[in-house]
Amino acid sequence: MKFLFRSTLRFKLILGIMIYFISCSTKRENASDNLAHSIMNIEQSNFGSSNGQAVSLYTLENNNNMMVSITNYGGIVTSILVPDRDGIFGDVVLGFDNLADYLGGHPYFGSIVGRYGNRIAKGEFTIEGESYTLARNNGENHLHGGNSGFDKKIWQAETYSSKDEVGVILTYISEDMEEGYPGNLTSTITYALTNDNELKITYEATTDKACPVNLTHHGYFNLTAGKENVLNHQLKIYASKFVEVDEGLIPTGNLPGVATGNMDFLDFHAISERIHQVDGGYDHSYVVDKKDGEFSLSVEVFEPNSGRLMEVYTTEPAVQFYTGNFLDGSLTGKNDIVYNQHFGFCLEAQHYPDSPNQPSFPNTILLPGEKYTQVTVYKFLVK
Ligand code: GLA
Repeated sequence: MKFLFRSTLRFKLILGIMIYFISCSTKRENASDNLAHSIMNIEQSNFGSSNGQAVSLYTLENNNNMMVSITNYGGIVTSILVPDRDGIFGDVVLGFDNLADYLGGHPYFGSIVGRYGNRIAKGEFTIEGESYTLARNNGENHLHGGNSGFDKKIWQAETYSSKDEVGVILTYISEDMEEGYPGNLTSTITYALTNDNELKITYEATTDKACPVNLTHHGYFNLTAGKENVLNHQLKIYASKFVEVDEGLIPTGNLPGVATGNMDFLDFHAISERIHQVDGGYDHSYVVDKKDGEFSLSVEVFEPNSGRLMEVYTTEPAVQFYTGNFLDGSLTGKNDIVYNQHFGFCLEAQHYPDSPNQPSFPNTILLPGEKYTQVTVYKFLVK
């Protein structure tokens, strides 16, 4: 009896030890399996200096070999490498491969724009009875944060990686009255590259005085990867209304239906189809059909030759669709490509232009104690 008891005990012990070792080795196999498949990576390199301050370039890579490069000068996305339908990678954004060219001046290629993306009429607004005057850097109006907006600042940068994404977190503190805006504003932009081929941008900001905030990303896309201009791209914009503007691109206050004229992209249309009937080309804020603050699919862009498809999701109420109307061939970008008119298009997720002066538009005034948040995703697929 005693012997039987002892041998059962010994048997259980041996069995337990065996199970322990088997489970350990399976765990080890799983871990090495994951490592073998994961090629997610972040590389930091020197990108030059501006005003004596060093600037870096961060190159993010996901498990599908999609790569996104971002510099902490202006939070600029300098390149996005994605495959076409044959698996051939191409760079689908306009920009430069060196800091000097960015410092030489450019129309916000790939930049973070702030504090207020788009126009504020005459650069003036009033908050709580106090009037403020901003730089008039676009005719008589204020555009994209002024003479030295967020696109020209050096942001503090920190990288991170998690199971399904790699990213860079950029922080910039804009001091009270910088470019004429009230309040110390702390902004944090998180650029994440996910394993679903998404460039996900999360914006957060807080202030110590009421001030207008309308941050956006000003990437110029070209899904042909620089082979030709963007006129053959086809767009679907989930917007039944747009913000009507005057000759200075300042809102009239009306939000007409897109069906009236050449503005309708509710079904896919090539940009070329009606662009020549639109005075100056597309440079309009489309009001996305959705509930307030909802994160939703807002635009799809398809490029038939490469098969590349880009989807834009955002929490913002509008998307500024701009067809590179002011590109005039005076800038030569990466790979010696000359940026002629319509060589790139922008889809800037944001609030409506001139909201601080338009009481009927959704609010853009951030108050102390509140947090500004925005999430916008550019997702790349093929069809
Ligand atoms: C925005 C504006 C355009 C133009 C570009 C930069 O998209 O809406 O009018 O100013 O920026 O050139």
